[in-house]
Amino acid sequence: MSGRSNVPLAVVTGAASGIGKATVERFVDEGYSTAVLDRSQEGLDRLKQSKIGPGIHAFPCDLADVGTLTPLAGRIVEELGAPRVLVNNAGVCLYADITETTDEMWEVSLNTNLVGASALIRGFVPGMKRLEGAAIVNVASRNALSSSPRAATYDAAKAALLALTRTLAVELGGDGIRVNAVLPGFIDTPIHGDLLKDRVFIENYLKLIPLNRIGRPEDIANIIFFLASDRAAFVTGQGIVADGGQMSGQNYVKVFGERDSFRVRQEPET
Ligand code: NAI
Repeated sequence: MSGRSNVPLAVVTGAASGIGKATVERFVDEGYSTAVLDRSQEGLDRLKQSKIGPGIHAFPCDLADVGTLTPLAGRIVEELGAPRVLVNNAGVCLYADITETTDEMWEVSLNTNLVGASALIRGFVPGMKRLEGAAIVNVASRNALSSSPRAATYDAAKAALLALTRTLAVELGGDGIRVNAVLPGFIDTPIHGDLLKDRVFIENYLKLIPLNRIGRPEDIANIIFFLASDRAAFVTGQGIVADGGQMSGQNYVKVFGERDSFRVRQEPET
């Protein structure tokens, strides 16, 4: 429950689009009030005008501007009470070869994907400690475990976010706050720009995914909701990979095509 009413409050960052938006919709459907944080004023306005508008309180902010975030958390607690759930979802992926990766790119990536989340946690945790069943869910990435070229700042930030998840699970467990992460694979959201319209790319990418489809924002929102709910009351410090099976291994037949040697079986000696 939030400090102000019997309606629980969920704070979601990067809420104006993709996974964050689907997550807000899920929490509102489940009876939560939500505080939605995003740098896109236009996206927040769209959310406010949508059918879930009455269930949301919009707070425009830049997660990369970390000095503003702990005070912002304080303002949210003052206006709406402490959140039962904090979802650190906002993220950016800046692609560049390592020789072209600037210090500024490191700063933006680490701040948005990692330090911003930590600044919000610092602001919200004192109030969350007083609530029954409080939970934090961090949206990391499959890339926290398996890297991509040109994604050094992203992969390092997401791996660190997963490490932070485990540290905080240990540190905050005694206060009854659970901390978990979800590690999405390839999900259909605007973060990919025009890549999703590239049919050849998608056809090839699907060869890597045993479930043979790109993920939907709702696939991830469902896991976030589960991890935040009492159904996961004994789960903390975990990262759930949701990637259609991509991390489980490669299907050689799909990737390379059928080969005789994939079929040869040695007969048992009699
Ligand atoms: P998206 O681009 O649809 O949404 C990201 C939202 O975060 C946008 O509304 C954007 O305005 C906001 N945002 C970005 N930087 C911000 C900042 N500095 N301050 C405030 N708001 C900011 O992307 P998507 O896919 O929904 O991403 C959500 C999270 O999921 C990210 O952390 C991303 O890294 C992670 N993820 C996404 C995957 C995918 O395939 N879509 C795969 C793995 C992880």
